Amino acid sequence: MKLWGGRFQKETDALVNDFNSSIQFDCRMYREDIQGSMAHAAMLGKCGIISQEDAEKIVEGLKAVLADIESGKAELTAENEDIHMNVERLLTARIGDAGKRLHTARSRNDQVAVDLRLCLRREIDAVKAEILDLQQVIADKAKENQETVMPGYTHLQRAQPISFAQHLLAYGAMLSRDVTRLEDCRKRMNECPLGSGALAGTTYPIDRFMTARDLGFDRPMGNSLDGVSDRDYVIELLSALSILMMHLSRFSEEVILWCSWEFKFVELDDAFSTGSSIMPQKKNPDVAELVRGKTGRVYGSLMGMLTAMKGLPLAYNKDMQEDKEQVFDAIDTAKMCLPVFAGMLRTMRVLPENMRAAAGRGFINATDCADYLTKKGMPFRDAYTTVGSLVYYCTTHQKLLEELTLEELKKISPLFEEDVYEALKLENCMGQRKSYGGPAVSETGRQIEELEAFIKAHKS
Ligand code: ARG
Repeated sequence: MKLWGGRFQKETDALVNDFNSSIQFDCRMYREDIQGSMAHAAMLGKCGIISQEDAEKIVEGLKAVLADIESGKAELTAENEDIHMNVERLLTARIGDAGKRLHTARSRNDQVAVDLRLCLRREIDAVKAEILDLQQVIADKAKENQETVMPGYTHLQRAQPISFAQHLLAYGAMLSRDVTRLEDCRKRMNECPLGSGALAGTTYPIDRFMTARDLGFDRPMGNSLDGVSDRDYVIELLSALSILMMHLSRFSEEVILWCSWEFKFVELDDAFSTGSSIMPQKKNPDVAELVRGKTGRVYGSLMGMLTAMKGLPLAYNKDMQEDKEQVFDAIDTAKMCLPVFAGMLRTMRVLPENMRAAAGRGFINATDCADYLTKKGMPFRDAYTTVGSLVYYCTTHQKLLEELTLEELKKISPLFEEDVYEALKLENCMGQRKSYGGPAVSETGRQIEELEAFIKAHKS
């Protein structure tokens, strides 16, 4: 018979049994479920709601159930619907009546909320650790490429010269925001719903501060209805993971472009790329493509949960059981993508000559040419127009700016002198961009230092 079978005259239909049960996915929270129950039992004993002896029996019994689940001895069944009732059944089978007292002053509604918060809190720490590892790979690669000149793009058109380090460090900065976003989310998540009961609290003299403290929460949630009906923390985590995946997806897109023959800025390691079943020459960036593709499913989970929650009246509704599969899938996806992406990046061979050659075409030093005239006294807007006509002249004469003779240059403006050639060298164009946050070596050096300090400060 079901734990809740008392008021029922019929067996649950087999279809309903399968449809309703969540054990296939909430079994993942068995540790948290037991941890929450231990704290609850200890509190019941301490407050005199059950005897100290029963409380101790429950805690010991739960330890044994934990061991049985971990060793595979205990069977978790769909008949028992979810992890909460499975654990309670296993406990009662072991210790008898004391086990039946565990659910005093509690409901599965506050139980599932506490389990999920505990579980997601742990998962956030795991995702964060993976992000920090990826950031270290970025810092290492950036160190090797502070002088590697590449074209910076806007509209995917060559724009101004930057270093490969500068490009990588942009992702380093994005990932730092992902880390702090996860930390913020964890902070708000860290309130304890246990003791909210089914929805309306309880008449027993429970101590919610005690259970909150024992379980490592900052405080108990202040409203019992909110305690059981809130899934903001799931949606917030899914949002943070979606943004993280959006970053990885943009990075992936660039890696895919960079290793195409059209760019050839990088070469992926054999161990991190794949071949074609028909085209013998192919080496494909499957890892990057899959990361880009999997971003969609994480967004899907976010949309799924936002939609599942949008029409729900307070307090608990069974719709909310949909939260676990989606958030677990998103976590697993991020946890799978991060290390494989880091490995791909770590082993990727950078081809500086190709980056430099690409930067050499496309008049990427045109702004620097205008800046040269401006520094010689011409107003910037006039310098801009002057260089615009120079670029036009170059395109009609098949020349680069630095290939024009001084006479050709002087014809356009007498301000040009011999030193213009130095000013147009890409290494100088990049190296002189020393403004705070710029690509000059001094600035990428500062960024690398700060990134490494960030990694150290956020490692737990
Ligand atoms: N398996 C349920 C869930 O994941 C647990 C809570 C069930 N509560 C209830 N009143 N049916 O949401």
